[in-house]
Amino acid sequence: MLLLGSHLLLAQTHPIKITKRYLNLPVSQNDSRGTMQFKVNGNPERSFKIRLASEKPDYWVFCDMVALQGKTIEIGYDGKADGLGKIYQDDQVAGQDSMYREQNRPQYHFTTRRGWINDPNGMIFYEGEYHLFYQHNPYEREWENMSWGHAVSKDMMHWEELPTALSPDNMGTMFSGSTIIDYENTAGFNKGNTPAMVAFFTVDNPEKQVQCMAYSLDKGRTWTKYDKNPLIDSKAKWSSKDTRDPRVFWYKPGKHWVMALNERDGHSIYTSKNLKEWQFQSHLTGFWECPDLFELPVDGDKNKTKWVMYGASASYMIGSFDGKAFKPESGKHYYTTGSIYAAQTFANMPESDPRRIQIGWGRVSHTGMPFNGMMLLPTELRLRTTKNGVRLVSQPVKETEQLFKKEGQWTALSSDDANAKLKAMQSLDQFRIKTTIKLSHATSAGISLLGQRILDYDMNSNLVNGVFYSPEDMTSMEVTADIYVDRTSVEIFIDNGAYSYSFQRKANADAKEGLVFWGNRIEVRNLEVFTAKSAWK
Ligand code: FRU
Repeated sequence: MLLLGSHLLLAQTHPIKITKRYLNLPVSQNDSRGTMQFKVNGNPERSFKIRLASEKPDYWVFCDMVALQGKTIEIGYDGKADGLGKIYQDDQVAGQDSMYREQNRPQYHFTTRRGWINDPNGMIFYEGEYHLFYQHNPYEREWENMSWGHAVSKDMMHWEELPTALSPDNMGTMFSGSTIIDYENTAGFNKGNTPAMVAFFTVDNPEKQVQCMAYSLDKGRTWTKYDKNPLIDSKAKWSSKDTRDPRVFWYKPGKHWVMALNERDGHSIYTSKNLKEWQFQSHLTGFWECPDLFELPVDGDKNKTKWVMYGASASYMIGSFDGKAFKPESGKHYYTTGSIYAAQTFANMPESDPRRIQIGWGRVSHTGMPFNGMMLLPTELRLRTTKNGVRLVSQPVKETEQLFKKEGQWTALSSDDANAKLKAMQSLDQFRIKTTIKLSHATSAGISLLGQRILDYDMNSNLVNGVFYSPEDMTSMEVTADIYVDRTSVEIFIDNGAYSYSFQRKANADAKEGLVFWGNRIEVRNLEVFTAKSAWK
């Protein structure tokens, strides 16, 4: 029963004793957002914005109630409250039966069960688990209520989604950031032999963005926010609200912590001995949001390294770093474009496996689904010497191979013969193909999928799908493309990762052709066709 019916005043449910794992909540995009509040023993426990469905829900979202078992809560809502009575608790998420088998659910990319995701956050490898935290709105498939969602995996391909790691608090919402393991107990959060996993994140509120930390002693499952937050409040210094996305790592030669932080017009470097007090060191203009900064061997030579700094768009500079300032030598370059944004790399990789592995947010939506956004394939970043100098290249990690089964390989085909092979493919829903084409009579050529040009190599203007590209051998007339198609997205790696791009699939039910090579008298020098398994059970 509702105490108050008017949507201007707070309507409230009867007390509900939480005995089941989930609280299922109906959402309709036609209803306006209202603020929902949970109270435990009369005290506010959480509040968030939700479009509570007043009539038929478009979809259901859920609250994981694991931390509130046995407690009695009251739910208040200041919006149209007709849907309050439909909220119910259950040990299953509403829609569990079809989870991960929904029609437009990516089958080998990470997506959240319900709600919105954007940036990957706090990516770290620890005790055999890859942790992927991410910007998350659990309550709607649009951006709002920024929290850190959390998933873990042993191989970066099969993910298990865990309860939300960091939720909004009185200071504001939880924006992007990173995690580290404090092996030396520099902050004093460790317990016995258990080192703390420490998260650095931006708290956003209407007034400003400040840098905060929290720590976990149970492998990221539960978090305690530091009681003296914020660590850095630099709005006044920059006369700007844009100060965010701390990326923290240990700088071994100087025995101190480094934080790369985006402040207004570029990336700043701060240093610290104890993770609590931070000193500003330097600032490099020319980047926006989501810094990353790391050292990589050039051509695999450990004795010859360079540092890479990038921002949210993945454009990067190459240079040197002395623990306090990054000095650019070349840039800005790009190695990937398209739907990728705000990519991050895994921290704390073991010495036996020092790969620099990146995951980017894929700005891809999934028609009709109760979730939005996805993570692109994990890729290994390397520095390679090219005709233009040292450049970053990226390729899917070897762990992706388990999901693809090679069904055939052919060489030296005409495009007609190659198209006959493609015609025999069982499903265009999800697959991978790898191909090398050679142009001789055509100035441009490529591949289209259901009417969408997924590969368009323009040898005359030197473009791959509209972006400047000059192959390593500029006389070769060849291009190699490793193409990953999932239900809603395409990712393409050109010439062993020299350039890559990703984008949303456009479903075209009327398309006359399926998957075809186009271009005048091209030679398909190599064609490999793979079926793709689902990563979900
Ligand atoms: C990048 C970004 C970050 C911010 C986060 C908020 O996509 O704008 O700068 O921390 O998203 O969700």
